[in-house]
Amino acid sequence: MAGYPALLMPNMSATILDEPQVISEPSPPRKPKRRLLIVDDEEGPRQSLRVLFKDEYDLLTAEDGATAIQLAQQHRIDVAVCDIRMKGMSGIEVLERLKYVDPAIEVVMMTAFETTDTIRQALRLRACDYINKPFDIGSMRAAVAGAMQRRTLESEIHDNAEKLQQLMLELQHQKIEEQMARDRGTIYASIIHDINGPLTVISGFIQLMTERIGNASRLETEDLEFVKDRLRVITRQVTNCIEISRRYLGFLRKQPSEGARVGVNQLLADLGHLIRVHPSLLNNQFHIHPLARDTGVKINGTDLIQILLNLTVNAFQCSGQSHQVDIDGEVLHEPLELTAFKDGPETRLLNVENFQNHAPLVRLSVRDNGPGIPPEILPKIFQPYFTTKDARQGTGLGLNIVQRLVKENGGALHLRTRVGEGTVFTVYLPAAHLIR
Ligand SMILES: Nc1ncnc2c1ncn2[C@@H]1O[C@H](COP(=O)(O)OP(=O)(O)O)[C@@H](O)[C@H]1O
Ligand SMILES: [Mg+2]
Repeated sequence: MAGYPALLMPNMSATILDEPQVISEPSPPRKPKRRLLIVDDEEGPRQSLRVLFKDEYDLLTAEDGATAIQLAQQHRIDVAVCDIRMKGMSGIEVLERLKYVDPAIEVVMMTAFETTDTIRQALRLRACDYINKPFDIGSMRAAVAGAMQRRTLESEIHDNAEKLQQLMLELQHQKIEEQMARDRGTIYASIIHDINGPLTVISGFIQLMTERIGNASRLETEDLEFVKDRLRVITRQVTNCIEISRRYLGFLRKQPSEGARVGVNQLLADLGHLIRVHPSLLNNQFHIHPLARDTGVKINGTDLIQILLNLTVNAFQCSGQSHQVDIDGEVLHEPLELTAFKDGPETRLLNVENFQNHAPLVRLSVRDNGPGIPPEILPKIFQPYFTTKDARQGTGLGLNIVQRLVKENGGALHLRTRVGEGTVFTVYLPAAHLIR
């Protein structure tokens, strides 16, 4: 402590000084000084440049090219002033290598008796300016200030381009989320539809019974049987409603990470209800073939409905003429032989990296005998917003969503198509025990 004058000792000023404290405004964060690298093998110009710029910039100096490159690798350099004629590595070479280390460094070349060819070469290598040696202070200041400004502008443009890119990605993400929410809306609308059926039956039967019973205070055997019979139907329908709502509430709550699973055949039956009231069905033929032996899959029910619904609607929409769409599946007791799948003009396998390829697996395929997908558009169909449909039918998000959901659930997606014959989309998912 001995070396400190008392007033400068930390935390003591308030007790020693009996004056009101002045609370100063927090000063805005100071910008870090920009960094200037001076490269010259002669001591004289190095020194004069140092004197000229030491207050304004954070200075680094190098007496040869190798040191300059090393400094550029260790520090962020904004601008370099580089002599063109040096022993060892020439200024032109230093310029080229500095740009290689960081293309954003702006370089001002110092030239003496160079030919215009050399100067042209320097400019071609993206030197931003050149200045004659011996230099006058005014031109040197102006050249370095200009280079610094250019550096700042370039990095602002670069930052803005990055921000723009980021915003576009966020927007895309948001659009996809919105579409997924809309799909879920459709699914939940179908629950209401599913529950509506039994409710209609229940209310009809209650009405019938009320009419039959009327104001009677006692029931004849025949009437009693009638009522009992209707009550049995009502009970069945009520159980149905409860089951439907339980199943979907289960979908709502469970995330894949919590070990979500769903029974395949029940889900195919739910999907069937949903599709039979879907506007895109039109007069196409549609069949669902349940698994010969039912099993579960490790996925949230609404995710799987969303996957199959998107693929099925695409299959309906692929042609304006009446055609056939089928969904079928099977349990696979071996992992997939991935080497057998080769991407080509008619096939694609997606999400191989994330795929949990352990048996047992469940295969679910949606096939149509529509026009198929031409090889020139096949590479684009999974891109968000790619659509060949008009705005009423297509958003171009369906397959992107399918691909995401399959990926999130550790599955794989395969596509086989042939122009004039049709298309098959196949989803492979890890199987799970069936919970009843
Ligand atoms: N089963 C299919 N048959 C033919 N083309 C298809 C089929 N499924 C998808 N496509 C093509 O892939 C494109 C992208 O599909 P998708 O991402 O679901 O968006 P959208 O259905 O809104 O166009 C479709 O516009 C269509 O050209
Ligand atoms: Mg679609």
